[in-house]
Amino acid sequence: MSIDFSKNIETEEPLVATTLTREDEGEYSLRPKTLREYIGQEKAKGNLEVFIQAAKMRSEPLDHVLLHGPPGLGKTTLSGIIANEMGVNVRITSGPAIEKAGDLAALLTNLNENDILFVDEIHRLNRSVEEVLYPAMEDYAIDIIIGKGPSANSIRLDLPKFTLIGATTRAGQLSAPLRDRFGVTLRLELYTPEELTLIVTRSAGILDAPIEPEGAMEIARRSRGTPRIANRMLRRVRDFAQVVGDGVIDRPLADKALTALEVDYLGLDNIDRRMLRAVIEYYNGGPVGLETLAATINEEAVTLEDVYEPYLMQIGFLTRTPRGRCVTPKAYQHLGLSVPGGFGAMEQLSF
Ligand code: ADE
Repeated sequence: MSIDFSKNIETEEPLVATTLTREDEGEYSLRPKTLREYIGQEKAKGNLEVFIQAAKMRSEPLDHVLLHGPPGLGKTTLSGIIANEMGVNVRITSGPAIEKAGDLAALLTNLNENDILFVDEIHRLNRSVEEVLYPAMEDYAIDIIIGKGPSANSIRLDLPKFTLIGATTRAGQLSAPLRDRFGVTLRLELYTPEELTLIVTRSAGILDAPIEPEGAMEIARRSRGTPRIANRMLRRVRDFAQVVGDGVIDRPLADKALTALEVDYLGLDNIDRRMLRAVIEYYNGGPVGLETLAATINEEAVTLEDVYEPYLMQIGFLTRTPRGRCVTPKAYQHLGLSVPGGFGAMEQLSF
């Protein structure tokens, strides 16, 4: 399997960064290569196993796959695994990187039979590129227009059979014609602390970083359901272990390092806390619209929605209502604030 890793690499990103940072390139070595090594996402993995085996038995490419869910859960990793399990190459690109229909045509015509084209952020493809994708996905062909005006001619160019894997944090933003052309849609879920403990332990083994089970659990508990964050935290905690500890990552050391990085015991960072505080202090606990909230704390609405909200909702700190976002009594308690009398008695009992 060969991987063309043509992604935007950013630097100086926070622990919760949405995109791959330069250091995450190193994470590449931490990525599992087979479904057996891949921890968690049991539902998606079980289904994929069947579809991969069936496609291999028929010597056909895998049907087109749409992966969706919050960032950092392993969509790129999974596409590499699918390629490896199918024994084909994967070419990695992203929606914003394919600017013109011709860029996509060049990518498609360079694939080998049964290869995989992975398009990250597929919801950001522009319309003219998307229209080239329809016949490519359906008939393994593209229509090329030659000439201009009344003398323009269209010729159909056959493509090798291939699999498109599209990844998105926002399946709802995909156009219906594109969504309908994926034969397989898999939703990736936030990982449990137990699964993340296994991932951190595995990564520490690969990095040759001594770690105690409670140290791995502490990192797992604070990495907001996201392997990319867990692996980033592991590297930072390892730095602390080497410089201010005895090299071993145990629970007190992990706690000290993560507290120094302003990640609290549930994994919330400054932006989470500012977001919750803003809902409480300016909007009496909500409801408040996402755009209004984003403007209040000077962050992008999409970042709040894709990166921060999924975890705050998973831990029961935030709810979405038709009228906007609301914080829960649990969030007040976590921030050390008293819960106002307006909350129902049942809600107060349950936190
Ligand atoms: N590293 C990142 N994600 C992983 C996963 N799901 N399983 C194993 N190692 C990983």
